[in-house]
Amino acid sequence: MSAARSLVRNNTEDMNVNNGTKIAFIGPGVMAEAMIAGLIRQAIVPEESIVVSGPSAARVEKLSDRYAIQSTTDNAAAADGSDVVVLAVKPQRLDQVMNDLRGSIKSSALVLSIVAGATIEKIAAGLEHGSVVRSMPNTPAQIGEGITVWTAAEAVSDQQKETAQEILTAFGDEVFVDEERFLDMATALSGTGPAYVFLFMEAMVDAGVHLGFSRRIAEILVAKTIRGSVDFYSRPDDPLHLARLRNQVTSPGGTSAAALYYLEKAGFRTALSRAVWAAYERSRELGVDSSPHWPESLPGTSD
Ligand SMILES: NC(=O)c1ccc[n+]([C@@H]2O[C@H](COP(=O)([O-])OP(=O)(O)OC[C@H]3O[C@@H](n4cnc5c(N)ncnc54)[C@H](OP(=O)(O)O)[C@@H]3O)[C@@H](O)[C@H]2O)c1
Repeated sequence: MSAARSLVRNNTEDMNVNNGTKIAFIGPGVMAEAMIAGLIRQAIVPEESIVVSGPSAARVEKLSDRYAIQSTTDNAAAADGSDVVVLAVKPQRLDQVMNDLRGSIKSSALVLSIVAGATIEKIAAGLEHGSVVRSMPNTPAQIGEGITVWTAAEAVSDQQKETAQEILTAFGDEVFVDEERFLDMATALSGTGPAYVFLFMEAMVDAGVHLGFSRRIAEILVAKTIRGSVDFYSRPDDPLHLARLRNQVTSPGGTSAAALYYLEKAGFRTALSRAVWAAYERSRELGVDSSPHWPESLPGTSD
């Protein structure tokens, strides 16, 4: 991928976000909490430099108590004076939030969005503010094991990019891409990816129960098989193509060959490819229209 700069940065490298950097979180949900917890755990910014805002006083006060951060139910007040404004609301709430924030963000501030599908153009226009970073984390960010793909508007300075990079390490690893079109692709692959993995795991566990294992034993076998396979694949000293690893467990006339025959016959790869493409198209649609969407037919089929 020529547009991606080098790349996966590990979350154990040195941090240097300016000590005085104030960060406002708009939307006190699951992802905001994951980022706040990571920022504090990794000492990227001190607690007193963080403010969180949302419609429920009970929720923001809970976060305030849990992390010793500031809280408010006034989005504009949270953004006022902050150096970084993190947009962490659902796509359907973004227009309303941008109306709240317009005019309250200082001109030198960076806006960092994790809102699925929302383009830089939409955010910059909605906020009348040019310094926007758009990112796509994924669910394992909640335990600091996420992978976040991000890009920046032209107006974002090099120093702001460094700040964004360090803040995003609160979620785990991060990958910068210099073309925004990769964000919709990342949304479909790594952002939505945990849904595919969990469905695959669930189906394997069900198959184990069908064979006769207790659900608990089947869950242990499946989880360890997947974790071990990923670690085996990820050996930096001996990287192998995935097809070679699959081949290593596929003896002629053996059990894997019998099983893989049925997966291929059922169109496993095609189904997965179509699913990822559907997520990509939906991400692009969300960028222009965030209303709920129910497909009338399966993507890529005439159903
Ligand atoms: N979860 C993931 O794994 C994941 C991965 C990649 C990207 N994302 C993106 O990250 C964003 C946040 O996701 P999430 O999972 O953290 O969602 P979430 O838990 O539902 O959090 C959204 C928060 O926004 C609050 N909110 C609603 N209206 C608001 C307003 N007008 N002003 C300020 N806050 C408002 C909600 O409060 P109430 O609950 O009180 O309404 C809620 O606390 C979404 O855009 C999502 O697409 C999530």
